[in-house]
Amino acid sequence: MNSAPFQASEEFAAAMDARDPLAHFRERFCLPKTKSGDDCIYLCGHSLGLQPKTASSYLEQGMRDWAQLGVEGHFHGKTPWVPYHRLLTQQTATLVGAHPAEVVVMNSLTVNLHLMMASFYRPTRERNKILVERGAFPSDQYAVKSQICFHGFDPGSSLLELTPRDGEFCMHDEDVESLIDREGESIALILLGGVNYVTGQVFDMAGITKAGRRKGCVVGFDLAHAAGNMPLRLHDWAPDFAVWCSYKYLNGGPGCVAGCFIHERHAVAGELPRFAGWWGHDEKTRFQMGPVFQPMAGAEGWQLSNPPILALAPLRASMEIFSEAGLERLRDKSVSLTGYMEFLLDQHTSPRFSVITPREPQRRGAQLSIRVPGEGRELCDRLAGAGVIGDWREPDTFRVAAVPLYNSYQDVYRFVQRFSAALQ
Ligand SMILES: Cc1ncc(COP(=O)(O)O)c(C=O)c1O
Repeated sequence: MNSAPFQASEEFAAAMDARDPLAHFRERFCLPKTKSGDDCIYLCGHSLGLQPKTASSYLEQGMRDWAQLGVEGHFHGKTPWVPYHRLLTQQTATLVGAHPAEVVVMNSLTVNLHLMMASFYRPTRERNKILVERGAFPSDQYAVKSQICFHGFDPGSSLLELTPRDGEFCMHDEDVESLIDREGESIALILLGGVNYVTGQVFDMAGITKAGRRKGCVVGFDLAHAAGNMPLRLHDWAPDFAVWCSYKYLNGGPGCVAGCFIHERHAVAGELPRFAGWWGHDEKTRFQMGPVFQPMAGAEGWQLSNPPILALAPLRASMEIFSEAGLERLRDKSVSLTGYMEFLLDQHTSPRFSVITPREPQRRGAQLSIRVPGEGRELCDRLAGAGVIGDWREPDTFRVAAVPLYNSYQDVYRFVQRFSAALQ
């Protein structure tokens, strides 16, 4: 969808919506309302995606099967619970560009991160560092530091942080690669966000993986802000593992079950150490309840527990919408919507704010991070009062994402109007 040149008018935004082939998907989501009953301008899909209208019917189906069948629901429910998680496998694989055997939907993001590090972070005296981005999401920082300590090393020396150049917010791809070239021999694990949660910068995942593997490092990505935000090609890029949550761009609901990718070169069961549970055991003999763990091949061999059916149900609804819409088309609209937001913000030459997200579409997803020095969380509250939902990251950043499944050009136009008014 080629949208340039843009115009700063409500009529132009309305015309863009009228010719948007994906506009009708908005009707498939529940949009929060303002006190006066209007749709909010919801720009917070980078934090919590909206509820698909069909989510409750999937949930109710699970509740009905439980009510009517009890334990029999495991095998005889309308959608039996034992293989339920597999309803999501093909769509998840498509979403992240993986083979079906390389993905599994299980647990939550930080849990999966720990499980992956249990298998893939194998520090030695010579090679024990973990490379992360400075200011990585706190849960990742805590997880990584605790793993370093768990193995008897010191985060003071084993944690290596990527830092932007002085006075800048985003990293240069070449700086990332030269750090890996320089320090690679001491790095056990490179763990970066596919998209940085504060700045919205997309990392060059293919280049980083290549550089890391050349140096013998394990490479993993936290794709919390990338999954469902842009097409990914994990199998081809070939990191060792990746993890993501399903409640942001994937609209699976608060705390929804997370995703995990393990490259097929690690598929051979039993080659890697892992923390085991019965749901990762070979399904052919699982119910013989034997004492010896025999992992399934592929990502499913990392499962621990039987899946939470009621938490998976809403994700089915959302993944069906993704399949219908198609990630490539969504990405085209996303680039255009975000470009329109940037264009409108650029009309205001106010020194009071600046966008810190990279300007190049290929270096960002849907999110724009607007730095507003001198403002505080009250700005976010003022905007919420005006029907605009974004979020605030201390000390001075307002984050917004125009999500192509349910946001419109008019949302973007009205947001920028209200944002400027809130700054007056
Ligand atoms: C980048 C990133 N990593 C990790 C997490 C933590 O996720 P969870 O609470 O699902 O473990 C989040 C949550 O927003 C996140 O944005």
